[in-house]
Amino acid sequence: MAVPFVEDWDVVQILGEGAYGEVRLLVNRQSGEAVAVKVIDTSQAKECADSVRKEVCVHKMLNHANIVRFYGQRKEGRTVYLFLEYCSGGELFDQIEPDVGMPEKDAHKFFKQLISAVEYLHGIGITHRDIKPENILLDDKDNLKLTDFGLATMFRYKGHERLLNRLCGTLPYVAPELLSQTEYKAQPADVWACGIVLTAMLAGELPWDKPTESCQEYADWLQKKTYLPPWKKIQPLPLSLLSKFLLADPDSRITIAEIKADRWFISGAKRTLLESGNKFLKPNEAPISRSRSSDDGMQFSTSQPDLAAGGSEAVSQLTCCKEQVSFSQPIKPEHMLLTTQLLCTPGASQSTWQRLVRRMTRFFTTVSADASLTALKDACECLTLGYKLACNKQVPLCLGLTVVWQLEVVECLKTPRLASLPQVTVSTLDRRNNKLIFKVHLLEMDQKVLLDFRLSKGDGLEFKRYFVKIKLKLQDIISPQKFP
Ligand code: ADE
Repeated sequence: MAVPFVEDWDVVQILGEGAYGEVRLLVNRQSGEAVAVKVIDTSQAKECADSVRKEVCVHKMLNHANIVRFYGQRKEGRTVYLFLEYCSGGELFDQIEPDVGMPEKDAHKFFKQLISAVEYLHGIGITHRDIKPENILLDDKDNLKLTDFGLATMFRYKGHERLLNRLCGTLPYVAPELLSQTEYKAQPADVWACGIVLTAMLAGELPWDKPTESCQEYADWLQKKTYLPPWKKIQPLPLSLLSKFLLADPDSRITIAEIKADRWFISGAKRTLLESGNKFLKPNEAPISRSRSSDDGMQFSTSQPDLAAGGSEAVSQLTCCKEQVSFSQPIKPEHMLLTTQLLCTPGASQSTWQRLVRRMTRFFTTVSADASLTALKDACECLTLGYKLACNKQVPLCLGLTVVWQLEVVECLKTPRLASLPQVTVSTLDRRNNKLIFKVHLLEMDQKVLLDFRLSKGDGLEFKRYFVKIKLKLQDIISPQKFP
């Protein structure tokens, strides 16, 4: 049985986990409505209870299209439940292909929405203080939603602005003044973090571990060495904007008002040949856009498929030539869960179920669960990744679906099978020497085995780099079959 958490609401999956606890998806048995619930165990420390109180106090006053809605809270002993808008599009991170980024057009759209959210927050005197792709979600229409107000605070009240002194945030995203001064201004620090997010979206990598001169990449940036990555992967117009975001002096850094007047911010990516309906294109000529340049020769990348323009075939030919798996393609069936099966659920409307958690870090294998596990363990050993094994509980949901606890709604079985399937926790240090932990869940589905990877702790881009490496090692046993 699924756990009836609040009457008529079932916990159907775990959406994410972090130091605070976890976020679960609740679905209403009657209406099929979905909400996210963040579960926080405050028994550890008094500061935790205080910080949750503050998070609630801030989050409940927010009302903006690009900020996750706060619906309410409930306390049970030392556990606090925060009910939040459910974002079925997953994390922004999942749209970023490691070392590549995402199409400039998409980055532009997301960036405008991010700035809109931050402008709203600053307008009412709130600073987020932990802007990063892990705290940015997408809804079913791919609208950006800023979330996690655990570190947010008020920096302006009745027109009086105060300086902040709490050193918080995530090192690759923190502004340099936080590390060099005891007090800092709220707004420029959030603006800096937005600049790092834009860099990650356009180049698929973070520019540095932390913005101190002892960090070579940051020292190179200060010396304007934009012929180095990640900068060399970024077009001149967004790069010019970024150079105003990532100014060491917070008083010289671009303001939100100035961002909104920037050329790239207003107009975005140059239209591709395909989009501008190039009349001179011969039928078999692939339309290409010079969307990413580098100083050591122009790199050509495919433009996004534009089905309306009738160029999809040429584009997909080019896409197939690309060696790397793409994380940034528009919707593919395998990014969704078993919608056809879910749709047979009474009360679940198509729109509710259709896009239950889109993720790209998963694939089917062609071999048994045992053989898949052995191959996974071998790949981990080969990549010198530490791992340990645990078991998944499969919990049949009263709606006739099988919930794989800690995973996804993946199967609609008439006779639920309560098999114990393995779960592998991989832990390592990433290339920046930071701890990285992810879990691989093995699931049997339609006599196939699904390997589903999920980040538990660490940098999402590093996690995806490891996913790609493991996928490459397992290529001989990966099924071409996508989700039904
Ligand atoms: N992960 C964390 N918070 C979430 C939310 N509100 N919706 C979907 N996934 C989430």
